[in-house]
Amino acid sequence: MKTAITEMFGIEHPIIQGGMHYVGFAEMAAAVSNAGGLGIITGLTQGTPEKLANEIARCKDMTDKPFGVNLTILPTLTPPDYPGLVKAVIEGGVKVVETAGRNPVDLLPPLKDAGIKVIHKCTSVRHSLKAQEIGCDAVSVDGFECGGHPGEDDVPNFILLPRAADELEIPFVSSGGMADGRSLVASLAMGAAGMNMGTRFIATKEAPVHENVKQAILAASELDTRLVMRPLRNTERVLTNEAVERLIQKEKDLGDAITIQDILPEVAGVYPKIMMEGTMDAGAWSCGMVAGLIHDIPTCKELIDRIMLQAEEIIARMQAQARA
Ligand SMILES: Cc1cc2nc3c(=O)[nH]c(=O)nc-3n(C[C@H](O)[C@H](O)[C@H](O)COP(=O)(O)O)c2cc1C
Repeated sequence: MKTAITEMFGIEHPIIQGGMHYVGFAEMAAAVSNAGGLGIITGLTQGTPEKLANEIARCKDMTDKPFGVNLTILPTLTPPDYPGLVKAVIEGGVKVVETAGRNPVDLLPPLKDAGIKVIHKCTSVRHSLKAQEIGCDAVSVDGFECGGHPGEDDVPNFILLPRAADELEIPFVSSGGMADGRSLVASLAMGAAGMNMGTRFIATKEAPVHENVKQAILAASELDTRLVMRPLRNTERVLTNEAVERLIQKEKDLGDAITIQDILPEVAGVYPKIMMEGTMDAGAWSCGMVAGLIHDIPTCKELIDRIMLQAEEIIARMQAQARA
């Protein structure tokens, strides 16, 4: 399938694996790219430019296909060395960067000078338009369903995607709630040029996370995610567990007086414990409502091939219906 996104990134299928903390290692990105999608290494999981350079080199050993690096711009008191991470991306010969979080304008000049394509993840039309205005090449439009940070507007993709299509000139992909060929065809119908998936890619053979994480996604239904940190205007959609319910109780008890310090036990440094050790109640971890649509653990190639086949079948069926 050829779309503006496959052309822009030089990939076979219009499917992207979004950056995921402690999931987006070289193994994950290479598996998705080898299957014809765009795999993405998560820059901040590596943390330092040296470690990111090493991860990029490892990924290059595993694939000769294009892959990207996610740079999430967080509002922290001690920010990571973003210029150093950008340098590692450029020197590593990476051709695509997925930015997320705050406005990436400061990172753009060196990336653009190096000919790197930038896709910015946004949860609203106004942020998407801003990304277009500052020179991003594409946007990943992340609806309210998504795992991770859906923003504060709560607009689901059935509204957000056509709204983005009406306003944007640059290509965009859908993100949030995407799982299969139905998701891809629906995204294309609403004006997207492809789709981005997070949670679905965790439940694959190659995802370098503990088996408990994959089983937790399989066991979850679409009713099992919760929104946390809304009082801090840093809303995150996570899979419910003991720590999450404790966190929500703190939010209820403390109301507007809550600070990040109050919930540090539930959110700080929990990803390695969950993703690597499989200690599922260690804290809050991002997961999308799409968990309700995930029932197996295929390889990335099986997953992507299946999505493309199903998409083609749906399109053919709809063409026949339209002609009838
Ligand atoms: C476990 C997990 C960790 C994530 N970490 C990040 C991250 O570090 N940076 C980022 O930009 N997005 C992150 N995301 C969001 C994904 O890239 C993607 O936008 C989202 O998962 C799409 O929604 P879906 O899960 O419904 O497919 C994360 C998502 C998950 C599930």
